Order: sequence, then structure tokens, then C-alpha cells
Amino acid sequence: MKQSKDIVKDFQIQQFQHDLISWFEKEQRILPWRQDQDPYKVWVSEIMLQQTRVDTVIPYFNNFISKFPTISDLAYAREDDVLKAWEGLGYYSRARNLQAAVREVHEQYGGQVPKTPEEISSLKGVGPYTTGAILSIAYGVPQPAVDGNVMRVLSRILSVWDDIAKPKTRKVFEEIVHLIISKENPSYFNQGMMELGAIVCTPTSPSCLLCPVREHCRAFEEGVQNQLPVKSKKKAPKAIQLAAAVLTDCDGNVLIHKRPNKGLLANLWEFPNVEVDATIGPDYQQLQAFIQSEYGVNIELDAPFTTIQHVFSHLVWNINVYSGSMTEEVVEQDRLKAVPLSQLEAYAFPVSHQNILKEYVKKR
Ligand code: ADE
Repeated sequence: MKQSKDIVKDFQIQQFQHDLISWFEKEQRILPWRQDQDPYKVWVSEIMLQQTRVDTVIPYFNNFISKFPTISDLAYAREDDVLKAWEGLGYYSRARNLQAAVREVHEQYGGQVPKTPEEISSLKGVGPYTTGAILSIAYGVPQPAVDGNVMRVLSRILSVWDDIAKPKTRKVFEEIVHLIISKENPSYFNQGMMELGAIVCTPTSPSCLLCPVREHCRAFEEGVQNQLPVKSKKKAPKAIQLAAAVLTDCDGNVLIHKRPNKGLLANLWEFPNVEVDATIGPDYQQLQAFIQSEYGVNIELDAPFTTIQHVFSHLVWNINVYSGSMTEEVVEQDRLKAVPLSQLEAYAFPVSHQNILKEYVKKR
């Protein structure tokens, strides 16, 4: 593996900074989080933009900021309201961690997002990428903000053939950015790299002829832009078979359960469901036994009315969904409720369970 200072040897750093930043000044998209440099808004946007496209994030960002306009609004908000505002965006630990970190900033730093890499990166859910993004965009500190998009762009510009799926490769790119980032305008340098990755130097068929830094691009010069970045394949997500039920009582209330406060989709609401094993027997028997033993509710099930598939980064859920009824009144608990259909929208559900509800409403 080459050292970062060897990689940037002979690279026209100042000219590159100038070409990138002037292009960003002219061509940047108007985005709601670019309207000011409020560190809180920069922070919220950067957390939302992880693993999520700009177009998807815009309405969530606007809604989130109108509900929780300041650090103290988010610090005092109910977690359920925060999850509701995040509903559909995925990776919900981002929302819980953001609120925990915002509470820490509110309590420990008097509501001011700290300005040092050490303090910012000690906050929950704030990794090296987010640390660099907040410091550079909100405070003008020359700190790298290297995510997968920036690695793609830089691997092409500097013809770096290290595997970007390996954690140690991100460190190589952070060292490179330390060497080439503009000290005068680190905000526009980092945002320019992000913008270039989003609208020009895209994963497949990059628009090299429109690229403002084509003259600096070693991959373009060598004609290998389509072979970079090197990215080894992740293993296929594991398939999980589930059975779920939309269960009503005699008043038409629907049974919902709040997921555990740790792990996948923590603290989101769901229709009762269980992982099933086809070798044990029919899934409805396993579902019925689970609901009886776990929630103390006796039920009758109809035939399944839909199957839902949901793909996570590491898992695929295949859910066989039944409707049914509860044959006695439910004893409600903190995490178990029977709610009128019309009030379900007040609860935050994962997308797979929103889809269950949509299919249920359609068939009724
Ligand atoms: N992706 C990550 N951060 C971004 C930002 N600030 N603007 C646009 N796209 C981004």
C-alpha cells in the first residue's frame, strides 16, 4: 500500500482546490441545509444523509427542523415523536443516537455543538465522517469528511486501487484529504467533493466530460474511471422467514407491540410477529403459540392476506401476514396496546409494517 504523501506527490493541490471550489460556488444545488451554517442543522442533515439519498432526505429534513428547530427542542422531545419524524427513513438508531447526543450537548456544552474533533466525535452516533462534516461546514475547520462517495471520487482522481470496503482504506483517504484540503475554505472543499460525487463522479457512468477537475483526474487520463473504486462485494443478506398478524378485538382495536429498546428497529411499533421455522410445522401455529405465550392473548387466525418482503443491509425479511381476531380483552401494557385503526398513524412503524397496514386497509 502506498503512503498518502507519495500518492499526492506531483498532484497540483492548489489548482485542484481552486477548480473544485469555484465549480461548487457556481453549480451547487440549493438544498435546505445549505441555507445557513447552523451546526445543529448541519448535524441533522449529515446524519440523515448517511446511507440515504438527497431527494429522500429533503422532506424529512424540513419536517424534522420544523418540529425540532433547535438543540433544546430536540433535547426535550419525546423519543416517540422523534421516531415518528424519522419513520420511513430507516436506520432508526441514527435518530435515537442523535437525540441522545443532542441531550448531551444541551447538558454538557450549554447547547453549543463543540468545536474540537475530540469532543464532537465522543458524541453518540458521530463518527469520523460526521465529525469532519460538522467541523468543516459549520465552523470552517479543515477536517476530512470521508464517506463512500468521497472515496469513490478520490480513488478516481488519484488512481488509488485500495479496496474501499475495508475499514483501513478510509484512513488512507482521510490522510490524503488532510494533505489536500483547502485551509481557506474547508467547507466548500468538502462539500464540493460530496457534490462532485453526487452529480458528476457517479458510481456508474461518471460524466467526465462535465467534470470541473478532469484535468487533475488520473483515472480519466488512464481511461480506468469505470474500474474504480475497487469495492469487494458484501456477502448476501441472510433471509429470515416471519409470520405476522393484524389482530382486532370486538371493538375493532388493533393489537400493536413496541419492539425492544435495543437492536434492530429498537422502540418502533409493530404488528405481532415471530420468526418461524418451516421444519417445525405450519407458521400460523407458531405465530398463535407465540402470541399466546408472549402476550397472553388468545387468537383466531384467518388465511394469510399478503406477503411482504423487506431488504435491510444485512437481512431480508419475508413476512407472511395473517388477519385474525382476539377472543378476549387484552391487558394493555407499556409495550402492548390495542388501538383503533384510525389512531395507528400516531405510532412509528418500520416500513415493512407500514406496508402490512396498507395491504390490510386495502383488503378490508
Ligand atoms: N451527502 C452528504 N452530505 C451532504 C451534503 N452536505 N450535501 C449534499 N450531499 C451530501
